[in-house]
Amino acid sequence: MSANYNNSTWFYDRLSRLVYGMALIDAQLFLLKFIPPESNVLIVGGGTGWILEEITKRHANDLNITYVEIAPKMMVSSKKKNIGGNRVVFVNSAVEDVALRDDFDVVITPFLFDNFTQINFERIFAHIHEALKPGGLWLNCDFQLTGKWWQAVLLKTMFLFFRMVCNIEATKLPAIERRFELFGYKNTAEQSYYGSFIISKVYQKR
Ligand SMILES: C[S@@+](CC[C@H](N)C(=O)[O-])C[C@H]1O[C@@H](n2cnc3c(N)ncnc32)[C@H](O)[C@@H]1O
Repeated sequence: MSANYNNSTWFYDRLSRLVYGMALIDAQLFLLKFIPPESNVLIVGGGTGWILEEITKRHANDLNITYVEIAPKMMVSSKKKNIGGNRVVFVNSAVEDVALRDDFDVVITPFLFDNFTQINFERIFAHIHEALKPGGLWLNCDFQLTGKWWQAVLLKTMFLFFRMVCNIEATKLPAIERRFELFGYKNTAEQSYYGSFIISKVYQKR
């Protein structure tokens, strides 16, 4: 059974700000600086879509964006966002079910992979990997455990909460960093947030 973030659409942004302040937003804003002009951009799991408005502040009209989001209510919210003169194709589907083109310059996966079990994560990772062209940038941010006790407690609490409300399948973080290494990606920039619990990384496909 796949995650259903529909139920959380109305409170998701407010709750994340309440718990994390600006950290989840800053982690994504850091990544947006790396989008080159005139790129083909794939966004997977954009949630309520605020990221589209932030992208538009930096790129008024030069991007072609494919925006894949599984939750219909998140999609409704995303479609209301200001996209300026950028061209956005909205795809309301699970990314693994979408036949993606294979020449994206940039893919963005913001707090997407923490939803999945290791096996599904690996499948979805490989699918998105195929969509990025060689030399392209993969902008990823997510939670990580760096050994502080409170991170493990907070993570467990989140998994429990989102399991109850949104039916997410994950009970622990998949091995995200290891996957990028295994697929030969070069980590060209990174920044951590919230006591290193949140990590944003820029990866380049070889
Ligand atoms: C944890 S939320 C993060 C939302 C947003 N990136 C943010 O940071 O505010 C994960 C998002 O990924 C979407 N999602 C989960 N599984 C997906 C899938 N298989 N394909 C596309 N989107 C998915 C959910 O509906 C949800 O909106």
